[in-house]
Amino acid sequence: MTVSVPDRTAAWSALARHHETVRGLHMRDLFARDPERFPRFTLEVGDLFLDYSKNRITHETVALLVELARACGVPELRDAQLSGEPINVTEGRAVLHTALRNCSDRPVVVDGVDVMPEIRRVLTHMEEFTEQVRSGAWTGHTGRPMEHVVNIGIGGSDLGPVMVTEALGSYGHPRLTPHFVSNVDGTHLAETLRKVDPETTLFVVASKTFTTQETLMNARSARDWFLAREGADEAAIARHFVAVSTNEEGVRDFGIDPANMFGFWDWVGGRYSLWSAIGLPIALSVGMERFRELLEGAHLMDEHFRTAPLAENMPAILALLGVWYSNFFGAASHAVLPYDQYLHRFPAYLQQADMESNGKSVDREGRQVEWDTGPVVWGEPGTNGQHAFFQLLHQGTRLVPCDFLAPCRSRNPLGEHHDVLISNFLAQTEALMRGRTQEEVEGAMTAQGVDPARIAELAPHRTFPGNRPSNTLLFDEFTPRTLGSLIALYEHKIFVQGVIWNVNSYDQWGVELGKELAGTVLQEVQGRDPVTGHDASTNGLIQRYRARRRPT
Ligand code: F6P
Repeated sequence: MTVSVPDRTAAWSALARHHETVRGLHMRDLFARDPERFPRFTLEVGDLFLDYSKNRITHETVALLVELARACGVPELRDAQLSGEPINVTEGRAVLHTALRNCSDRPVVVDGVDVMPEIRRVLTHMEEFTEQVRSGAWTGHTGRPMEHVVNIGIGGSDLGPVMVTEALGSYGHPRLTPHFVSNVDGTHLAETLRKVDPETTLFVVASKTFTTQETLMNARSARDWFLAREGADEAAIARHFVAVSTNEEGVRDFGIDPANMFGFWDWVGGRYSLWSAIGLPIALSVGMERFRELLEGAHLMDEHFRTAPLAENMPAILALLGVWYSNFFGAASHAVLPYDQYLHRFPAYLQQADMESNGKSVDREGRQVEWDTGPVVWGEPGTNGQHAFFQLLHQGTRLVPCDFLAPCRSRNPLGEHHDVLISNFLAQTEALMRGRTQEEVEGAMTAQGVDPARIAELAPHRTFPGNRPSNTLLFDEFTPRTLGSLIALYEHKIFVQGVIWNVNSYDQWGVELGKELAGTVLQEVQGRDPVTGHDASTNGLIQRYRARRRPT
């Protein structure tokens, strides 16, 4: 790794001092003072328009945040990542999801080898296969075309594909119904299998490692279910099971012919893998042309991220605003609020992308970090969220920075629905920013003729502090290209924040301990081992479960 971590102390200190002067300012006054605030704090990349003017920032804040990014080596690490250096230090790997969507002629070299020809080869394989399945030329063992695609995977081998397939639902193939099974809870698989016909079902077993307990168990149970049907034998498996993995041996051991395997590489992180063959269920649903548009949209954002100065760099700006609230205002969470039903899985997808990447507490050198790192990311689509948790966003004691996302044109124009949706969307960001003062509340209640004693009683409850920050991301229409740009935007945002916090965003050791302990506990819940080795709580719970579990 050639990039050394520079001293960031001076930039942090300058921001801490600046925070003292900004924390008391109200955005309402900042807007009143500066008629240019909207154009000053907006950015456009392709179809994505970002308004970040409703943040607790001044011109100087942005300058100081950009200085922090420079001091932390963001440009150098960005270039190192994009050029294939092994920036994932704990796993000794390059991080090259950007190569998967490299629509330029530029080679991308890992260990002296240009990886682009291999990437194009797998894309061609995906193209041939998806065309066969979509056209009906690929048939099941009884000669019928496929009608159901069941993706079996978890984490990055599920969340990205399911989010994108749902998001592009309006582009879906009319004959093919996509399904996603991730949870090892047998209900997930059982409920899915109830909806499909084995003769017309294609299973995509997706696992980077092909060792993940949940995925292998679901895949085995799916195979047993399939083989239990009349006429289905091992030879029929080849027509109904394909795999996406980096582990050819594991795929072969499972019983899937490597000819039906779509490969990818260890330099693709699981949560950054939807651009690889892990995107197969997406391509089966929307077609390879649309899948390539998704890649193009992401590439557009990659190029912007690579070349735009930090102060005009959309992912960098979003990242820096997040740092501003996490590290200077003490915000512990970040809400992502898509006003688009198609994006209903976007917050869940982002949770893995962000929290598995930046939920770390040691730095790249293994030292305890002295600052807060990744926030809790959460959200739900609007307008549903408004009737659930927005109360806390408006009047709670915690500061929750929000991203609001919406398309200008609906893919389902239905009467006035979209105008109503968007009016809510815009009203929420305005309300969060402006708030409503006690004087305004009292004035309005007086005008309505409310009794003064009642006004005094109710006014504090009806007052909104405002000054609650939000970013607004508007796009024209929801297309594969837009979605590609949007996902890449957040991926790069996460990367920039990881650099600023000096954590390795590309490992996930934190998921290991639970996995290991589950192995021990399984032996015990099934009665193979005595239950003594844990704390009293865990021992007691295992014993209680053992006494009550359904006998096998
Ligand atoms: O549980 C963590 C994790 O390793 C994720 O990072 C990954 O996306 C997921 O498990 C699934 O892994 P695999 O694709 O190897 O089955």
